[in-house]
Amino acid sequence: MLSRRDTLKGGACGLAALSGLFAPAPLVARVNDPVGFGAAVRPPLLESDADYANAIRKYCSIVVPEGGLIWNDLRPDRATFDFAAADRVAAFAMNSGLRLRGHTLVWYGVMPSWTESLTSLSLAQDELLKHIDTVVSRYRSRIDSWIVVNEPLADDAAAFDDLRPTIWQRAIGIDHLAMAFEAAHAADPAAKLFINEYDVEYTGARFRSRRKALTALIRFLLDRNVPVHGVGLQAHLRGNLTIDVEGLQQFAAEMKALGLKIAITELDVIDNKLPADSAERDRQAAQRAQTLLAALSDGASLDSVLTWGITDKYTWVPTYFKRADGLKNRPLPLDENYAPKPLMQTIAQFCTVPGI
Ligand code: XIL
Repeated sequence: MLSRRDTLKGGACGLAALSGLFAPAPLVARVNDPVGFGAAVRPPLLESDADYANAIRKYCSIVVPEGGLIWNDLRPDRATFDFAAADRVAAFAMNSGLRLRGHTLVWYGVMPSWTESLTSLSLAQDELLKHIDTVVSRYRSRIDSWIVVNEPLADDAAAFDDLRPTIWQRAIGIDHLAMAFEAAHAADPAAKLFINEYDVEYTGARFRSRRKALTALIRFLLDRNVPVHGVGLQAHLRGNLTIDVEGLQQFAAEMKALGLKIAITELDVIDNKLPADSAERDRQAAQRAQTLLAALSDGASLDSVLTWGITDKYTWVPTYFKRADGLKNRPLPLDENYAPKPLMQTIAQFCTVPGI
């Protein structure tokens, strides 16, 4: 019998299942790999909240530490590598049979202040290479994909080299991107390496421009044989903006032509501007994700879908996007009591979700 998921049009897994059952084999068979689902996890909660750990085990096949592999956590000072939090997530993933992704090696956010002293080319380059080699080597064959570079583009980027003025960019220039990918690849040749961006998902001049700049940056890197294997779209979907379906379809086609997969890396729905009624809000949130995922799976290029957290109980969203009416945000696939919401059903149309 066909499940609900198999009958839904547009679902990558659904279409593959349908053609296998009813259609004569096409001359050129193209069966998509199953699209994995996972979530960002907060290391301390895996031990302190059993319901949380169980929910991750139930629904996910991939996890990424929400913190633990960022510079601020790993590198309290220049001489130290503190792997405690990341090791806990790695152990949880191994014991639970989950794949593990790393986030992130190059990012302007949450950098320890001592890195501000890396102002010369040689200091910055040595530290960047040492960091990447040490961290990627430690998790070789345990972390199978890395967000190598996170949010490289300036806010209003119009060209591939409109990059954020990070310490790496200031000291090394654009070459720091190639350096980072090459160092990660050397440390673990089997890991899939991603470049990750946000604010490229919507209609409007700024988002179109950032999407073009991202495409151009990827081409720039691939033209130089830099080992970039995929592009991540964060998809912190802003409920009040319109997803650019055509723009994303075109982006997916371009990535496919370049041989790159697209990962949705940090999906949640920023619901501060969505209606108060929770059922309606959840419906609209799921609809946003449906539009995004349908646009991208047309090109059959989806690698995986990860949400930034699993339950509304623990989410970064209220830190930046509290609702004016005081109601709690509902950005994630499970509610505060771990019940699946429409967003989870939507994700399951496009991905293999173990618990659904
Ligand atoms: C946020 C985390 O959720 C917070 O816990 C942390 O303090 C700051 O970063 N884009 C990213 C993520 O790539 O790392 C951000 O996560 C959310 C935006």
